[in-house]
Amino acid sequence: MRKPRIGRFWSVALTLAIIYAAVKWGIPAASREITGLPFPLPVPGTLIFIYMLLAVIALFLLVTFSDENLAEFMHPIKKLLRGGYGRIARAVVMTSIPFLAAWQVYQIVVPKVALPPSLRIQHPSSNFPKSFEALKNPFANPTEAEIAAFVEQAEADQVEFIPQVMSDIEVWIDETGPDHMLEFFPAGPMDAFLAQLEAGAVDDATARAALLEKNLFEGRALYAMNCRPCHGDSAAGDGPMADGFKLRPINFTDAGTLETIVEGYTFWRVTNGGPGLPTEATPWDSAMPEWKLSLTEEERWKIILAEYDLAEKTPRIPESH
Ligand code: HEC
Repeated sequence: MRKPRIGRFWSVALTLAIIYAAVKWGIPAASREITGLPFPLPVPGTLIFIYMLLAVIALFLLVTFSDENLAEFMHPIKKLLRGGYGRIARAVVMTSIPFLAAWQVYQIVVPKVALPPSLRIQHPSSNFPKSFEALKNPFANPTEAEIAAFVEQAEADQVEFIPQVMSDIEVWIDETGPDHMLEFFPAGPMDAFLAQLEAGAVDDATARAALLEKNLFEGRALYAMNCRPCHGDSAAGDGPMADGFKLRPINFTDAGTLETIVEGYTFWRVTNGGPGLPTEATPWDSAMPEWKLSLTEEERWKIILAEYDLAEKTPRIPESH
C-alpha cells in the first residue's frame, strides 16, 4: 500500500474529520438541494454516531492490517510520549486531554437556560384568506327556497341525492319496495317529516330538520369514502392509515381542534390540504390531501357538516357575530 505523505496517524485523523463533516453538514446541505425545501433535513445524533463508529472500525482494520502499518501509526504517539517533540508539546497534550474531557462533562451537566422549542403551529393563519372567515356552511343553514324545493321533491317521492349514494338507495328501493324513498332513513326527524307529508301539512321546522338529516347522511357517506382512512370512524384521527404519518391526522374529538376554528377556516384547510399550509406549519409536512382537486364545493361542505357532527363539536363563532 502506498504510504500517505502525511503519515499514517494524521491520515487517519484527517479521514475521520472529513467523514464527520460530510455527515454533519454535507448531508443536510445536499438534502436542501434535493428536496428544494427552505430548511435542511437534520441528521439525527444516533445516525452520526453509527457512521462514525463504522468509520473507526474500518480505519482500525486498515491500521492493524500489518505490524508495519500499526508501528507507523503508533510512531508519532510514541515519539510524543518519549518527548521527541519536546517537553512542552508533551505537557500541552497531556494536560489538554483531561481538560477537554472535563469540559465535555461540564457541557453535559451544566444546567442551561434555553428558549422553549418552537412547536409546530397547528393553525397557521398567515396565508388564510380573510374572505373565508365569515363563510357559513350552506348545508347547515338551508334557505327557505331550498327547504321548499326539498319538500316538493319529497312530495313527488323523488328526492335527489348526490350520485355517490344514489345508486345504493336505488338498490335498497328495488329490494324493499318502500312506500316512500325517505323511509330509507330508519328513524328520527325523517319519520316526523314523512308523517306530516302523508297528512298533507308540513311545517317548516320539521322539513328543515329532515333536510339537515339528508345533508348529514350524504356528508357521512362522503366522509367514509374520503376521510375515514386517515381520520377514523369516530373522527378521532385513528383511521387505519393514521399510524403511517409522522404528523398524525388530527383528532377532531379533541377540544383543541375543530372547536377552536371557524367553519370558514375548516373549509379552507379541507380545500387546500397540506400543500396549502405556510412554512409555520412545518417541519412535518401534512399528508392531508388538497381536496379542491377531487371534491366539489358542495361535497366539501357536506363533509364538514358530518365531520362536526361525528366529532360532536360545534364550530367557533366568527368574532364579528
Ligand atoms: C392521507 C390522510 C388524510 C386524509 C385522507 C384526510 N386527511 Fe385531513 N388531515 C390529515 C393530516 C395528516 C392532518 C394533519 C394535521 C395538520 O395538518 O394539522 C389533517 C388535518 C385535517 C384538518 C385540519 C384540522 C385542524 O385542526 O386544523 C381538517 C379540517 C381535515 N384534516 C379534514 C379532512 C377531511 C374533511 C378529509 C376528507 C375529505 C380529510 N381530512 C382526509 C390527513 C388526512
